[in-house]
Formats: sequence, structure tokens, C-alpha cells
Amino acid sequence: MTSYSFSSDPAANVGTGVLVLPMFEGGDAGPGVTASLAKSYAAAYLTGKKDETLLIPAAAGVAAAAVLLVGCGPKSGFTVTVMRRVLGGVAGRLAKFGSAATTFPMAFAAKRSVEAVGAAVEGLALGSYRFTEYKTERAKPALKKAVVLGSSRWDQKAAAAAVKRAVIVTDAQCWARDLVNTPAGDMPPTQMAAEAKKMAKSAGLTCKVWTDAQLRTGGFGGIVGVGKGSANPPCLIELSYTGAGRQTPIALTGKGIAFDSGGLSIKDAKSMENMKDDMGGAASILATMRVIAQLKPKINVIAAIPCSENMPGGHAQHPGDVIRHRGGKTSEVLNTDAEGRLVLADSLAYLAEKKPQLIIDTATLTGACMVALGTDVAGAFGNDDDLTREVVDAGNAVDEPVWQMPLYRDYRRLIESEVADIKNTGERYGGAISAALFLSEFVGDIPWVHLDIAGPGFTERATSLAARGGTGVPVRTLVKFITDRAAAGAR
Ligand code: BES
Ligand code: ZN
Ligand code: MN
Repeated sequence: MTSYSFSSDPAANVGTGVLVLPMFEGGDAGPGVTASLAKSYAAAYLTGKKDETLLIPAAAGVAAAAVLLVGCGPKSGFTVTVMRRVLGGVAGRLAKFGSAATTFPMAFAAKRSVEAVGAAVEGLALGSYRFTEYKTERAKPALKKAVVLGSSRWDQKAAAAAVKRAVIVTDAQCWARDLVNTPAGDMPPTQMAAEAKKMAKSAGLTCKVWTDAQLRTGGFGGIVGVGKGSANPPCLIELSYTGAGRQTPIALTGKGIAFDSGGLSIKDAKSMENMKDDMGGAASILATMRVIAQLKPKINVIAAIPCSENMPGGHAQHPGDVIRHRGGKTSEVLNTDAEGRLVLADSLAYLAEKKPQLIIDTATLTGACMVALGTDVAGAFGNDDDLTREVVDAGNAVDEPVWQMPLYRDYRRLIESEVADIKNTGERYGGAISAALFLSEFVGDIPWVHLDIAGPGFTERATSLAARGGTGVPVRTLVKFITDRAAAGAR
């Protein structure tokens, strides 16, 4: 575990393993870069382009054991987002130095200092995450200490608070990654519940877990139906946080399919390889609740997270079966691989009963959304344009890209059923929209946003902010949305 802190000491005086300094294109030296360091950079024929780095051990004039000069592109294009990514990109190389310091946020004006300091910590923490739980060779020791340097003219308290907040957020986001990266064989629904209970206890949240039997009597036909083919029983995890007395809460849910084999509508081997990630939505809601419990914003938040495993088996639901969801609506299960909407329907209906001010769900729901938006961008669907835009803006502000998609009502015809109220598959075209329309049937008139994270929930190749595997998206989006809401309410 790395300990992060803020300091306004001059960069040259900081005794640390490696001092990470920005270089910009066009010979523009960043904060803390001495004339002699800049000269070395130029002498190596480096020009400040992104990813052009130079390590200078025992540099003259600085107390640090080594300096890492990092190209950041043109100064004019240097945003907080670029900074987070550039720092994330080099974060994995810092551990061997034992400790590190960086001046990156000092490239920004004082009014952006809080955001920049937080984002610097986020970049370092997210970029250095590795999942080593199953490696027999001892994991390399993490960086012990990282110091984010800033100006002595900045609000020192606010800067230190930004560090603290970023540590809380990234710890939780990396925990969500761990939950996703843990093989499905070791993370069945009951294990998710055990993780939730443990987290709730240490964070101070109320937690209730509905068992399989309770879900049956409670009318949760979707969660139960999807789980019928698995030897691992389903459950529903309920969490609540009270930060604003009797105020109407915000409600969250996330798809928690421990493993998605497709069920009897079985997937091919290749399509199944990463399906331990199908509880990424659930993991990110658990992590978001953990952050909220630690940050203590003045707002109320409830969550109901459906966990079930989609397997073929003698007791599995059949294509053509009709299930009855919480609240009484029926759906015809034509394709058992469209299971996410079935478990979410129950949870959305359950949350809607509680009349929250709004509901947000997140789910690795459709391959179609990946076809539309690629691997990096989440799709946002909603029944309230202002709310949907608010969530989209939150995501883009924290570099978890989100794009609004249409909840095009005419496509309701695609999920019209002959035998039940609705069927669980449409046609190939517009698959992400018909899935969202299915969900919309269960929220009544509560303002609601659905984030399809089939793409960004899991990454096949390492990016600057995430190792291969679960990403913990959209934890930062949800935290920003909720804390901004709380701040607006308090004003
Ligand atoms: N979990 C999958 C969606 C998915 C696919 C997530 C690829 C991440 C990567 C979901 O349950 C699913 O199987 N969806 C089907 C729906 C279809 C049967 C209507 C799909 O997208 O093909
Ligand atoms: Zn699925
Ligand atoms: Mn599926």
C-alpha cells in the first residue's frame, strides 16, 4: 500500500527515490525542471511528445535519487485528464525506487489545484494497480510513499483533502477490480455477499442479504430464474447509507452475474473467456457505496445488487419459460443469454417501490453496446434527459467516457411478447436500445439512468489507467455524481 501526501516543498529539496517531472512539446520545461535537466532531455533528442521519458539517476542539483522526465505533449493541450493518464502510464515504473514525488499539478492554475492534486493521485494509484493474488511468486513491493507537490500559495488544507479523497476513491475502485478479476470459481454470488458484508461492517453501512429462499417468496423471479441452472445459489445485496436524515434517497443497482455462460442459450468458448467480468456492475456499486460511507456526503443512498450465476444444468431455465418479476410483470425468456436484464428488472422494481429520487443502474449488459461505442465508452440511456446528461457529464469529467444513447420508444415493438408482458430479446439491430427499453419497464415514473459498461468494464489490453482485466468503471463517475448532488443540496 502506498501512502500519499501533499507538500509544498520546493521540488529540488525533496528527498525521494524518484522525482517525476513533466516536459512539454516545443522545449517547454515543466515545473521543477532545472536548466540542466532540460538540457539532458534535449541532448537525448527527446521533444516532450507523450510517452517520451528519460530517467536521469543522481541528477545534479536535486535531492531525489533519480529524476524521471515525462513527455506530456503540448502545454496548451495539457488538461487534468491528460495529466491523470500520463502519470498512470509511468506509475508502474516507480515502485522499484521505493518512494516518488511529482510536480505535475503545478502546471495548473491555483483554481484547478484541488482537482489536479486529486487526479495526480488517481493516475498514480490506478496506473500502478496489478492483480497478483494468484501468482505464486511473491508480488513486487509497491511504492511506499508518493508525494504530490504543489504551490505554497494554494489552499494547503484543500490540497491535502483532495489527496485523501483520491486515496479513498482509488482504493475502492481497485477493490472493485479485485472482485472482477477474481476467477468466477472463487467469486460466486454468496462470496460477493460475504465481501459486501465485510465492507459494510468496516465502512459503517447497513447491509442485508436476501437468500435464494427469501428471493423466491419475495417474488424475485428474474434473479431466481437466472440462477436456477447453477449449483451456486443467487442472492440480493441491500446496502444503505444515511447522510441526510429523512431525505429521499438516491438508488443504485448493478448487474452481478458471477459467470455468464449464456445458460442453455450457451455461448461459444471464446465469448465465455472473460465472463467472470459479468459482475462488474455489481462490483462498482459495492465500491461506490464504500466510498460514500467514507466520504460521508450529506445525502442518502440505497443500493440493491442482484447476484446470480448463469449456467446450463438440469434445473436451468428453458428458452420459452415465462418468469414473474418482483412487482408482478412477466417476461418470456427466449434467450437465456439475455440474463442481465432479468436480474436487473427485479432490482429496479424493488428499488422503485421505495420511491427514491432517482435510480442509476450499471451493467455489462450488451455486446451491441460495444459494437456501437467500442471498448472505451459507456452507453447512457435514461427516461429523463437532464438527469442522463448530468451522469454523462460526471463520467466525462473524471475520464470515464460516457455517451448518451437514445431510449427510442418505437423499438418497444421489438420486445413485444405473444405470451407474456414482454420478451427478453429483440432483434440483432438496436440490441443495446431494446435491452435498455426492457429495463425501463421496471422503473415506473422514477427518473432513471442505465449505464451499459459491456465495453469499459473490462479491458483486454492494459491502458494507462488500468491493467488488463476489470477496470472499476464507473466508480469515479458515480462518486462524482453523488457528491456533486450532495454539495448542491447543501448549498
Ligand atoms: N454479459 C453479456 C454482454 C457482454 C458481452 C458483456 C461481451 C461484455 C462483453 C450479456 O449477458 C449477453 O450475453 N448479452 C447478449 C444479449 C443477446 C442474447 C440478446 C449479447 O450481447 O449478445
Ligand atoms: Zn451477461
Ligand atoms: Mn448473457
